[in-house]
Amino acid sequence: MSFDVDAVRAEFPALALTVGEGSRVRPLIYLDSAATSQKPQRVLDAYIDFYRHSNANVHRGAHLLATRATDAYEGAREIVRRMVGARYTSEIVFTRGTTESINLVANTLGGQVRAGDNIVITALEHHSNLVPWQMLCKRMGASLRVAPVEDDGTLSVARFAELVDGRTRICAFSHVSNALGTVLPVAELVAVAREHGALTVVDGAQAMSHFAPNVQALGVDFYAFSGHKVFAPTGIGVLYGRRELLDAMPPWHGGGEMVDTVTFEETTWAPPPMRFEAGTPNFAGAFALGVALAWLEALDRPAVEAHERALVEAITERVAPIPGLRIIGTAPGKVGVLTFDIAGIHAHDIGTLLDQQGIAIRTGTHCTQPLLARFGLKATARASLALYNTLDDIERFGDALERASRMLR
Ligand code: ALA
Repeated sequence: MSFDVDAVRAEFPALALTVGEGSRVRPLIYLDSAATSQKPQRVLDAYIDFYRHSNANVHRGAHLLATRATDAYEGAREIVRRMVGARYTSEIVFTRGTTESINLVANTLGGQVRAGDNIVITALEHHSNLVPWQMLCKRMGASLRVAPVEDDGTLSVARFAELVDGRTRICAFSHVSNALGTVLPVAELVAVAREHGALTVVDGAQAMSHFAPNVQALGVDFYAFSGHKVFAPTGIGVLYGRRELLDAMPPWHGGGEMVDTVTFEETTWAPPPMRFEAGTPNFAGAFALGVALAWLEALDRPAVEAHERALVEAITERVAPIPGLRIIGTAPGKVGVLTFDIAGIHAHDIGTLLDQQGIAIRTGTHCTQPLLARFGLKATARASLALYNTLDDIERFGDALERASRMLR
């Protein structure tokens, strides 16, 4: 097998959009996949088809459509299990997304955190893997410790290890940084946490579209990701949790289908994963997520990774000659995230001028305010890549950025 980027692009209707009119019409170039990925037609079709042919509530009916819907929902859970290398489907909980997955852990496992304990995170965390822990620490009288990030955007395992001790209950860190593109040494960080008896929660939101994790090989206790960043719809996400841990955890939300027996006096809980899926779940979203992951799984992943590596190298080289441009995050092996600052020019102005040329990037804090502060910045511009981007996209982006920075000087 190999990777045919043109064939893949043809599957994504949004990548065929154009901007401008008449002689000024040009293709839209999408460089904001870290915020959300575009969706292939087969995922859009699957979503609509589900509502056309299989729509009924899951786990709640014996009729034909209820059976179809339940099979589709549970089939998606099996695809997720395979994709993340989990042992059991009961270890896969469907949520609304990474943020909800992390909040679920913080609000259930959090009951084990006591005053005087600590939780260790890293300085490159997205607010979603920072704020829930900060809230938990404040609630329980625990302290939040933050492992520093180096100037190139790497994370030192040794400096992380200095913060972990016998009172560390949870270590929470990203697999891939949304702002720097750094790939963290997850297995090594897990080994440090384990040595001290701490549990690990990994934010995999930015990893899943680039490579498949293996939760067993990495040794993680919890792993969270979102569907919308991995070519699936919004509003669906996943929490992987090790079976023994999920079995022992109380529910977070109460409601339908998360129970075993209910009386006015007492309720007993369903086993995982349903214990954590109160209310009608997003079954159409889960089904479409399964379709997206199965599509990804069928690609030649090493060839995709090679393509993405070539894009990272190309974009880094392309912007290097632009006067005053500083790349934030240059860790070896980083994924396709180019966060940058151009001296004397506001990121929003860059974003606006690029948008006028049909190029979509993100500007602002990227939900990582403390990280930007560490680099002495309040806002930056970020171009983020996915497997469907091309060297031509990068050339156009580079040309547009050069023009924009000349105009803004
Ligand atoms: N977490 C998303 C990003 O990095 C929204 O843009």
